[in-house]
Amino acid sequence: MSNILCIGAGYVGGPTMAMIAKNCPEHKITVVDINEDRIARWNSDDLPIFEPGLLEVVQEARDRNLFFQTDVASPTTDADIIFVSVNTPTKMFGEGAGKAADLQYWEKTAREILANCRKPNVIVVEKSTLPVRTAEAMARILESGNSSTQFFVVSNPEFLAEGTAIEDLSNPDRVLIGGEQNEQGRKAAETVAALYAHWVPQERLLLTSVWSSELSKLVANAMLAQRISSINSISALCERTEADIAEVSKAIGMDTRIGSKFLEASIGFGGSCFRKDILHLSYLCEYYGLPEVADYWASVVGINEWQTDRFFQNILHEQFNTLAGKTISLLGFAFKQDTGDTRDSPAIPLCEKLLAEHAKVKVHDPKALENARLDLKDLEGDVSFVEDVYEAVEGAHALALVTQWQEYRELDFERIFQVMAKPAFIFDGRNHLDHEKLFEIGFNVFPLGKVPLKHV
Ligand code: UDX
Ligand code: ADP
Repeated sequence: MSNILCIGAGYVGGPTMAMIAKNCPEHKITVVDINEDRIARWNSDDLPIFEPGLLEVVQEARDRNLFFQTDVASPTTDADIIFVSVNTPTKMFGEGAGKAADLQYWEKTAREILANCRKPNVIVVEKSTLPVRTAEAMARILESGNSSTQFFVVSNPEFLAEGTAIEDLSNPDRVLIGGEQNEQGRKAAETVAALYAHWVPQERLLLTSVWSSELSKLVANAMLAQRISSINSISALCERTEADIAEVSKAIGMDTRIGSKFLEASIGFGGSCFRKDILHLSYLCEYYGLPEVADYWASVVGINEWQTDRFFQNILHEQFNTLAGKTISLLGFAFKQDTGDTRDSPAIPLCEKLLAEHAKVKVHDPKALENARLDLKDLEGDVSFVEDVYEAVEGAHALALVTQWQEYRELDFERIFQVMAKPAFIFDGRNHLDHEKLFEIGFNVFPLGKVPLKHV
């Protein structure tokens, strides 16, 4: 039996530890966070993050071998394995501002570990996505004091996607574990692999060097995001040429060398990882004297911002170039469906642009209103957050679909059409709705990468 500690009870730490606790009942797992409110919610049935299936997993293990608490020091004392999953946002000041990772939370954690660990051998697992070579820096801090503990730093990036975290954790494509290339390093990586081996088939446990592991995580996210920017760039060309982006996506996705996933055109990708990780990757390339490579990856983010702006420009243009005093209702604010997370959601710049045009913005989202309020709290203008979707669309000149919640496909659009200002417009930022049917009801419909269906 080992004592496992996880520092940081967020979108990564919480679900991952719940899954390890469920599958490894012989180990004691303590998850700590400095945020008291978060910990209180992990200890209740009102979890701090919405994730389908998560509550059941937490309930099975909580108070059996899974514990959530705010005290970091005491569980560090007798920990054998420490997962670090604190946040590493993009640095917003000084050197590398807007590109590099802000490592202040992470470094504080390293120093806390050093101050409190008492076991002779401790494995520290880097779980947050971090710039390449962070594990090395972590090892240097841990070796710096006069601690009698011997530390082994392992990189084990998490590949779960929000909204499908439990599915992804239960059945991962692979689990990547990077260890130092010496006997002790390999042993540490194997100890971490043994936890996952409780439920993940051996052939999906991939042991690599620390740097390969760290870099693979950044590159996986960059490649996924690159597919979205590629298809989004083509959505613009489709609109000019009357080709249909759904047909193009399907046709190219059927080529087994390309594959069908991550080819859905959208208002732009969001989430806590893609933008941040590509910027890290780009910064890393710049640092290592590869400006062409840095520019190549930065352009994936550039296209993403352009796509969100294009969506906004289309609304403005189709609203006869004036939005002042008009009501625009946002269907969805989360960066994707099945999550309440709004980090880097394209809804944020969209709202900024709409409010700058003096539009009245009404926001609806089934799970993300609490976060949406925080995101927009400093913006000036007429913005409201509405829980009832039919109330949110009342009097609207246009609807902008941002998030592909299933429930938006099931709305009574005849009823919605009745209560909207005319002519009524729908801008579908996800090609999520039945456009023909909406057009028949009377809407002017603006999909992405397809010919618009206009009455006027
Ligand atoms: C991503 C990675 O998928 C995951 O492996 C990593 O651990 C964290 O980052 P996540 O950000 O949670 O996961 O969600 P993901 O499903 O990847 O979607 C990211 C964004 O891309 C969302 O805004 C989504 O709507 C958008 N997207 C996705 C598209 O616009 N088109 C697509 O075809 C797929
Ligand atoms: P992710 O999506 O990577 O999981 P989150 O922001 O959801 O990121 O979670 C990171 C968590 O780490 C937050 O809940 C934050 O309060 C916590 N955290 C940050 N620094 C520390 C620290 N020094 N000790 C404990 N928890 C920390």
